[in-house]
Amino acid sequence: MEVFISETYEEMSKAAAKVVAKTLNAKPDAVLGMATGSTPLGLYKELVRMHREEALDFSQCTTFNLDEYVGLPVTHEQSYHYFMHENFFKHVNIPLQNIYIPSGTTDNYPAFCEWYETRIEECGGIDIQILGIGSDGHIAFNEPTSSFNSRTRLKTLAEQTIDDNARFFEKRQDVPIYAITMGVGTILEAEHIILLANGENKADAVAAAVEGPVTSMITASALQLHPETDVFVDGPAATKLQMADYYNWIQKMKPGAPQM
Ligand code: GLP
Repeated sequence: MEVFISETYEEMSKAAAKVVAKTLNAKPDAVLGMATGSTPLGLYKELVRMHREEALDFSQCTTFNLDEYVGLPVTHEQSYHYFMHENFFKHVNIPLQNIYIPSGTTDNYPAFCEWYETRIEECGGIDIQILGIGSDGHIAFNEPTSSFNSRTRLKTLAEQTIDDNARFFEKRQDVPIYAITMGVGTILEAEHIILLANGENKADAVAAAVEGPVTSMITASALQLHPETDVFVDGPAATKLQMADYYNWIQKMKPGAPQM
């Protein structure tokens, strides 16, 4: 794991966007793993800017989203389908047929989940997976105690997650209780993972994920087992990191390091 601490949310988003752009420039037909939530909005904004101003090209890439609420039609403003189109897809040049988002309205969840996993495999696997983190340390909708070998499946949301996400809905009762999500095992197969976190309310989850024991109670801690994970945090989200000085020192000393 490598940890990049930026002072502000904007700087954090730009640093993460550079990594995605680098992947895309090196491999124009890369498979991108997309995340929702408020965290990656700045990253998407920066990628859209790069597309407009620096001709960053998405025309050959394929995307797979992490998760979707069960029961929300794609037209629902809080569905992750709607979120992705509004905040990212409609502003860049990814062909519609290359966009995959789990269905929250299928009548056969097991068959859909199996198909989704197969599609990821057929497309060559995910080159770079973007992740946020829930305040209970979850990634995608892999709530505490999700198996590290889990695959795309239906999950019951934790009450903490329902509380956290209630701010996006008119009332708490409107938040879906179930979601379809890539598993921890699915995520760990991505070639490269970037996890983003901002704000003080993520500080505990970030510290537990990066420096705590590897435990299914904090599913983001599974990323400690992944060889290519970069963690991008802003100042407030980094406040509980015991080794923050070391992470900053590594970045400072990098230019002089022997080439690998
Ligand atoms: C949801 C999503 C996660 C996301 C988390 C945090 O639970 N399934 O992918 O990381 O929310 O959201 P936010 O970035 O809004 O704090």
